[in-house]
Amino acid sequence: MRIVIILIAFAIAIISSGFGTVYIISEARLRDFQTDSKFDYPISMNVAAIEQGRHIARTRGCMGCHGQQLEGKDFGEQWDWPERAVAPNLSIYANNNDAATIAAAIRQGIGRDGKALTSMPSFNFARLTDEDTAALIAFMRSAPLVEISLPKPKLGWSVRWDFARGAETHMADWADVVPLLQVDPIEDPERANGEYLAMTMCNECHGLDVRGQTLYGQRTPDLAMVAAYSREDFETLLETGVAIGGRELGIMSLVAPDRFPELSETELDNLYAYLISLTEEPISADVPWRPEL
Ligand code: HEC
Ligand code: HEC
Repeated sequence: MRIVIILIAFAIAIISSGFGTVYIISEARLRDFQTDSKFDYPISMNVAAIEQGRHIARTRGCMGCHGQQLEGKDFGEQWDWPERAVAPNLSIYANNNDAATIAAAIRQGIGRDGKALTSMPSFNFARLTDEDTAALIAFMRSAPLVEISLPKPKLGWSVRWDFARGAETHMADWADVVPLLQVDPIEDPERANGEYLAMTMCNECHGLDVRGQTLYGQRTPDLAMVAAYSREDFETLLETGVAIGGRELGIMSLVAPDRFPELSETELDNLYAYLISLTEEPISADVPWRPEL
């Protein structure tokens, strides 16, 4: 009897020290990133800035994940990763945190607790300008408060294990490898604006350089393929999610009508001009978001 109790105690000790080790290493990993987070751009709460921020939030998909009224969203049922993802209420968040903290979460994937985020696609916002980020903060702070009850987020053991053994990359590291903008805004202001839009709207799913990515064994297209679209068909795709030939797509057809219908004619022109010009640019191989299938 005694030996059985000793064996059980021994087994419990081994298992719990295994869990303890995974916990400690994964916590260390989530605190391991480059930082140079500084943000001292003034937040002006005037009508124009708030409207600019609302436009950024709409076209960058903040409402799709944080709720149409920024009230927050529990992804528990929808995503099985990272066990329980909860997008926080952004008006509460923005009123309870200083601008530098909010900017670091949005653009650098670093949470208010100083740990890297795991589900928020900050890499899609890494290149947002200070001005647009400030406008976004003004919008979130001024939005009417809608409160719903949200559960606590949870990082599951399998995800911790993936971080601990280096099989997962957190958002602070992804945000750090987003390519710099290439087009010179003085030489070519239209294409430069198009690049800015693509690199802060489309790289969430089309690869950090918008030249395609591999996700769960599936490829999303290189956006140079927009050259196959007329300007008119491109607008239809972004406004309605319907692709050339009247095709309904998957995720693309879901997100486009939520985010892109309010892009202005100029934004569409610039985005189109930039994307079709990609056919002349080489694609870099050997980037982490496009491993060989
Ligand atoms: C694909 C869904 C998704 C999109 C799009 C998204 N978020 Fe998030 N966001 C999340 C989730 C989930 C969290 C919770 C933290 C985590 O799990 O990474 C989060 C966390 C945050 C946080 C808090 C970070 C912290 O300190 O814990 C802020 C601020 C935030 N998001 C702002 C934004 C803004 C602004 C936008 C639009 C520019 C946006 N998010 C777009 C899913 C999203
Ligand atoms: C939330 C993810 C997501 C975002 C953001 C996104 N796309 Fe897509 N897109 C996809 C996926 C996934 C596909 C492949 C088809 C599918 O499964 O929906 C796709 C397909 C496409 C296609 C191919 C259509 C065809 O004819 O087959 C084009 C063009 C496209 N996207 C353009 C864009 C542009 C431009 C942006 C930014 C303004 C953008 N996408 C943003 C996920 C996204």
